[in-house]
Amino acid sequence: MRKTIILSAAALLLAACCNQQKFDGPAYLDPNAPVEVRVEDALSRMTLEEKVGMTTAQSKFSSRGVPRLGIPEVWHTDGPHGIRPEVLWDDWDQAGWTNDSCTAFPALVNLAATWDKEMSLFYGRSIGEEARYRKKDILLGPGINICRTPLNGRNFEYMGEDPYLAGQMVVPYVKGVQENGVAACVKHYAVNNQEFQRTQSNSVVDDRALYEIYLPAFKAAVQEGGAWAIMGSYNLYNGQFNCHNKRLLCDILKGEWGFDGVVVSDWGGCRVSDEAIRYGLDIEMGTWTNGLRGAASDSYRNYHMADPYLKGLREGKYTTAELDDKARRILRTIFRTSMRPEPNYGRFVCPEHYQAARDIAAAGVVLLKNEDNVLPLDVPQGGKILLVGENAVKKMVVGGGSSNLKTSYEINPLEGLQNAFAGKAEVVWERGYVGDVGRSYNRVDTGQDLTDNRSPETLVAAAVEAAKDADYVIFIGGLNKSKHQDNESTDRFDTFLPYAQQDVIEALAEVADKFVVVNISGSPVSMPWEDKADAIVQGWYGGTESGNALADVLTGKVNPSGRLPFSIPFKYEDGPIKTEAQYPGIKAEDDQFWQTHYSEGVYVGYRWYDSKDVPVQWPFGHGLSYTTFEYGNAKAARPYMKADGTLKVSVEVTNTGEIDGAEIVQLYIADPEASIDRPAKELKGFEKVYLKAGQTKKVDFVIDAADLSYFDAGRHEWVAEPGEFKALIASSSKNIRAEIPFTLK
Ligand code: BGC
Repeated sequence: MRKTIILSAAALLLAACCNQQKFDGPAYLDPNAPVEVRVEDALSRMTLEEKVGMTTAQSKFSSRGVPRLGIPEVWHTDGPHGIRPEVLWDDWDQAGWTNDSCTAFPALVNLAATWDKEMSLFYGRSIGEEARYRKKDILLGPGINICRTPLNGRNFEYMGEDPYLAGQMVVPYVKGVQENGVAACVKHYAVNNQEFQRTQSNSVVDDRALYEIYLPAFKAAVQEGGAWAIMGSYNLYNGQFNCHNKRLLCDILKGEWGFDGVVVSDWGGCRVSDEAIRYGLDIEMGTWTNGLRGAASDSYRNYHMADPYLKGLREGKYTTAELDDKARRILRTIFRTSMRPEPNYGRFVCPEHYQAARDIAAAGVVLLKNEDNVLPLDVPQGGKILLVGENAVKKMVVGGGSSNLKTSYEINPLEGLQNAFAGKAEVVWERGYVGDVGRSYNRVDTGQDLTDNRSPETLVAAAVEAAKDADYVIFIGGLNKSKHQDNESTDRFDTFLPYAQQDVIEALAEVADKFVVVNISGSPVSMPWEDKADAIVQGWYGGTESGNALADVLTGKVNPSGRLPFSIPFKYEDGPIKTEAQYPGIKAEDDQFWQTHYSEGVYVGYRWYDSKDVPVQWPFGHGLSYTTFEYGNAKAARPYMKADGTLKVSVEVTNTGEIDGAEIVQLYIADPEASIDRPAKELKGFEKVYLKAGQTKKVDFVIDAADLSYFDAGRHEWVAEPGEFKALIASSSKNIRAEIPFTLK
């Protein structure tokens, strides 16, 4: 018997050895060889021309591999909310595929509003699977530029105004995407906070603001998320374009942070050959060529890092040191993605992804106001709900710039509520106003004709008439993705609702019994009509399942737990930007560029409003629930913390209402004794806690010196000054539930 066991063990061992046969081929093709071994082996086999070849685009969304060695080209895709439909090889026209309608996930600002790291991982995994199925290697996202001004046209693609929130939310997204063998390309690095003159503006920002506000989320994406790719932004910093910015790319990203991935230019963002070669750009992607179509030959060869680079190398102007570094990074990306050891195939437009999109969208919806608990909707059998407003029907996945998607379907709010009330109540719609009737972007067409030639008076009168016998009137408006709204390449002009929306809201408020306003936008909208509504809901661009997700919250199927990822001011002028030099910047006659001075320093968003005691319409972190929460027993483990130690603070949160719900418990740190001017408080922790009705849970936060530090630009280091601090447990930046003083020794 014993002999039999020994013999079978030997047979198993032999079988295992046979399965792990020595790879018979070059090391770079060996899927089991370490990535760095594969990189060095491939590099040693490549010619100068092949190395240079990899550093530029060969089409709108691909860059070269090494065809002779069987190393595949790299396929890039937008990003960041879904997988972009295929365009022609060298033209933005649609390629006309019929199998590229994706799942549109919610806009990243919606994800940020969940304040839920699990949701971010779920998002990253799901979109990563879609990218993998579509055979994409680099996903051009997530975007994490700070919402410095509410007017920035791309706020909807980013994660709000706070570096800690954005940093915490970006890390799981990156990990989730990369689990699929798809590189997340974190964008747009860095200090790219406006669309106005985005390719001609120089951000003038001091080191303290740079390190405290604009870099931390990128650093987290790289160091904690392990991001494999970064996209340089269009603008300049320090007078140098960011796609080849020595300080940002060589000194900070690849130097201080040890980034070993690939730097991709924004499309057409590479502007100077010599700098691109020397200052950290690895792949030059572009827009403004006439490539294969009009040119006699492949005009990608004229790219800054193509023939001009080769010429410089041959003439001895450049050494191969920079080139080998670029080639190594590109090879590493390929071995991490398309040539990864264990291929997976992803999945696409499946029920699981639709459900993910719906859950994430619903989790980010923010209940701003709910007088007399008018929500969730309580409609009698056979009752009537009137929806008014263009955003109740407008398809929003199409538009907005490069994040434009072709989606397999899109549920609008009217359909979502009709689904929810089928057989129970009538849900009808009135237009109320005409906003944007555009229906296509980049030749992706919604198929929706919103033309309406009625006068504004007629539209309002029809809505008012219909409101008279409605149990609920829900106005669904806000912004959209057309020019000067939530849209790439243009900024907004002010923070108010566009079109005649305010008139419609005021007219409806006069007649409606129960009046709810849903604002759908990707950036802050001031609400001078706040008092007119019984309830106000902040919705976002929710993607494919947008309308169902909104209905889930309005009906109470999902108890709202979203929180604002930015402050909503009463008006733009209340914010920290007071001069033209700050925004949009100033261009002197003899200057080629606009100079944008970030002279507000670290006082961005609530750091400004709370430090200067400026009231806001809705504070950062604000959001209500259909239940109520009480905070108690907040304490620190000790009254002091040592500089090299940590301090645990905890609080008990109780759901004091009658239904289950989730609270976002926030931790801010205040440094009242600082020797320099510091914001009144800064977010340093948050946790989403699910609580059954009546349940209490303890929430712990662990504080360390990094949470207490400011960036000392002179010494180029983070400093935590000994003395008194306060840990503030809060439910928004303005709603402090408990103060815990402690001393840093
Ligand atoms: C945008 C990027 C995008 C790229 C490719 C650029 O205009 O700024 O965010 O990834 O185009 O579409």
